[in-house]
Order: sequence, then structure tokens, then C-alpha cells
Amino acid sequence: MPNHLLAIDQGTTSSRAMVFDAHCHSVSVAQQEFAQYFPHDGWVEHDPEEIWQSVVTVVRAALEQANLSVSDILGIGITNQRETTLLWDAETGEAVYPAIVWQDRRTAAFCDLLQAEGHESLVSQRTGLLIDPYFSATKLRWLLDNVDGARERAERGELRFGTVDSFLLWRLTGGRVHRTDATNASRTMLFNIHDQQWDQELLQLLDIPPSLLPEVLDNAADFGHTDADLFGASLPISAMAGDQQAALVGQACFTPGSVKSTYGTGCFMVMNTGDQPVTSSHRLLTTVGYRLNGQTTYALEGSIFVAGAAIQWLRDGLKLIRHADETEALAEQVGDQSGVYLVPAFTGLGAPYWDPQARGAIFGLTRDTGIAEIVTAGLQSVCFQTRDLLEAMTADGAIATASLRVDGGMVVNNWMVQALSNILGVPVDRPQVTETTALGVAFLAGLQQGLFDSLEDFAARWDCERSFHPAMPEQRREALYTGWLDAVRRIRNQSP
Ligand code: G3P
Repeated sequence: MPNHLLAIDQGTTSSRAMVFDAHCHSVSVAQQEFAQYFPHDGWVEHDPEEIWQSVVTVVRAALEQANLSVSDILGIGITNQRETTLLWDAETGEAVYPAIVWQDRRTAAFCDLLQAEGHESLVSQRTGLLIDPYFSATKLRWLLDNVDGARERAERGELRFGTVDSFLLWRLTGGRVHRTDATNASRTMLFNIHDQQWDQELLQLLDIPPSLLPEVLDNAADFGHTDADLFGASLPISAMAGDQQAALVGQACFTPGSVKSTYGTGCFMVMNTGDQPVTSSHRLLTTVGYRLNGQTTYALEGSIFVAGAAIQWLRDGLKLIRHADETEALAEQVGDQSGVYLVPAFTGLGAPYWDPQARGAIFGLTRDTGIAEIVTAGLQSVCFQTRDLLEAMTADGAIATASLRVDGGMVVNNWMVQALSNILGVPVDRPQVTETTALGVAFLAGLQQGLFDSLEDFAARWDCERSFHPAMPEQRREALYTGWLDAVRRIRNQSP
């Protein structure tokens, strides 16, 4: 009897495949990085063929490493970098243009125009999002307007649009299935999160032919079967979810007020708000957390564009360190009160500021500031930005969080996680399994296949590896945070 699950995690810088056993223990993992293309200032692209090849390679490698045959796999779950936009030929499966990545800002002027024309409230009422180049809709519109013949071909029904999940599903099923899930759909700026349908008015506003769009299913559903030639036998694809929502599930954040924060290149904080969408007055996004059996659970999300990327910059740009793991010892040496603030607004500021014009800065330098102080300020910037998000969530009336669950590459740094707890003033829990994205979608696939009974069943298996409790006097916490707010105010005042 097959009793393993395969998760495909197609991220921004690499593709990963993981096999889990029936107890949600990881059996194997394979990973492959792929190229990032920056053809112009602010543009970020991926080669769809490189994405596809990397996925096929890691799936085969993960199966081999696990020493399992395809017949041991009960189902596949796909999770992915969200918003990244692809348009492909329905006949050949060839993309008409590279994938336009979520970080790409090429549609900023068009977004400004939509805002100036007063469409923001319609967009936010229907989709829960803000008008920003981050989301798929204006990227798709750009493809239709700028790729030769694309609009005519789209109107003749010859093309398909999708985020990475849909593109992979199309390829995995040999071009037979055009579907997505409610979480990925909710990031396109074309999906009405209240009636869970593509929004006709927004499609008209953006001049998007409806025939381009995939069918939207629950997160755990029968999405289709892989082409038998790919992996030796046909496998069911039983779950799909955007990566941050998969992490919400993987962190078992199933009750309103429960919240997780994932620290990779950026940081994405997502709070479960239950069966009611909470409209943010503080520029957070209202989004689909997960949809199961037709029941939508909503979430509030704060997206920060630079978290781990700040440490990468300290390493590769400034060459202050050789490895990210040096940061912990340096910060221990400095402590949290050097007075240096690093605001890593390299590509503007995301939530809750949404200021594309802001740029980064370092404040508070003195004659004795050295590498350790700047590196520590880089770690602290991640904590302060998380506090910005938590403040916004609290101000939006979200239920006060009892603890924050964290995951992602950065959370191996104990100093950073303790500093996070200190700055937030709430306990921070690090789970046993930090591969929460892959775990979340594997669980959803297992749910669909009947391997697991319920969310409660999964929540009972969630294990905390270490809890970090606030260990800083209130007055010091507030003084440090006030310094951060002042630094942010100063870079925003300098912007045009
Ligand atoms: O919204 C973008 C997010 O889904 C990207 O996640 O982990 O691929 O950087 P990641």
C-alpha cells in the first residue's frame, strides 16, 4: 500500500522535492537552484524551462534518495512562489515569455495610473489586496500588451495564464489540466475572495480575456494525474497551495489569532482570522489562508521584501562576513544597544508602508562602529520589521497573539529569534520541523488521500523544538523600537 507523500516546493531561488512518510517525517529532500535574470532595473525573470527541468530533476532525485518507487507515493502536493506570472501556448505548453517574478516592478507606472484613476477601493474590496506590481494582474496585462501577438492569441483562446502552480500542473499532467487553488488565485488581484470566483469587473478593468484563467479548486482536491512517462507511473496531484499559506498549514495555525512568520529572502507573516476576512486599515493584505471542503479560512498577511536578503547583502555586497552563521557570535558580542539601525529598504518598503521610493540607510554610526555592530543591526532590522507587522495586525483588531511560530532559513540563529521575542514582547516558538512549507502541502495531499483525518489530527503532531520568551524590560523594548520608527521615518522623508 502506498503511504508516502511527495511535496514539490517551487521557490524563488530553488526547487525542492521532499518525501514524507505517513507520520509526516521527512524521508528525503532534493534541491536545485536556478538562474535569476535581471534584464532591466527593477525587472526579475525566471526561465520557465529551467523551473520545469529543476522540478523534474528534484522529484526524481528525492524518490531515488528515499529508495522508494513511484508506487509507494500516495499523492503529490505542489507549493510555490506566489504571484509569479506565466503565459503559455495551450497546444505546445511553451511559455510565450519568461516568468515575471513577484519581485518585478516593471508595472509600477501602470499601478500608479490605476491608483490615480481611483480603482484602489474596488481592488481591495474584491481581492483584499492593494494595487501593487507585486501581484499577478498587472504582470499579465503587461504580457498581453508587450509580447507580439499575445493579445490576439489570447482572444482566440490559444493561450493559458497561470502562477507557477498552474504551470507545473499543466506540464505534469501532459497539458491536460488547467487549474489552480484558492490561495494562489487570491494573489493574482483578479480573484474575488468573498464569492471565490474570478471577478468579472476586475477582468474588464484590466482587459484580461477570461478564457486565459484556470479553474480554482480547494487546497486539498483532485487536481489531476501526472503523465505516466515522467516518473514511471501516473501519480495523483492531491494538493496545491501558495508557499506562505502552505507554511501556515505546516505550522498548524488553524485557530483565529494563530500566526506564523517565515524568514527566507523576505519575511511573510500570516495570521489566521477564521471564517471572516478582516479588512486591514493598516495596509496589510487580506488573503485566503486555506480553503477546504469549500470552506474558506481567511488570513491577514504582512509581506516584507528584505529579511535574509539583508544578511546576504552584508555577506556578498559589503563582504563583512563570509557565512551567515557568523552573525550569531557577532551579535552576542555586541548586544542589542549599539544604537546602530540598518533599514534594508533596498527595493522600497513592503507592508505596512508600501513605499517603492524609499531606499536603505544605516543610522547611528560612531567612530567605534565596526563590522559586528552593522551585522547586528542587520539582524535587528528583521525583528523590527516583524514588530511593524504585528503592530499593524493588532491595530487592525486582530486577536492578540499568544505566540508567534517561526520558520525559514534564518531561524537557526538563536540570537535573532531571542531578539525577535524581546522586540515583539511575545513568546516565539520554533518547531521541530522547520520545513513547514513542504510539510504543509504534504499534509494537505495526505488529507485528500485519507491518510490524515483532520486538521486537529495534524495540529496534535506539531512539536515545538524551542520556545523563546521575552527577556527585555518594557522600557528598553519601546526605546529600541522608537529608534527604528525614527530611522524609517527618515528614509521616507528623504524619498521624492
Ligand atoms: O509572495 C512571494 C512568496 O511566495 C515567495 O516566497 O519562499 O519563494 O521567497 P519564497
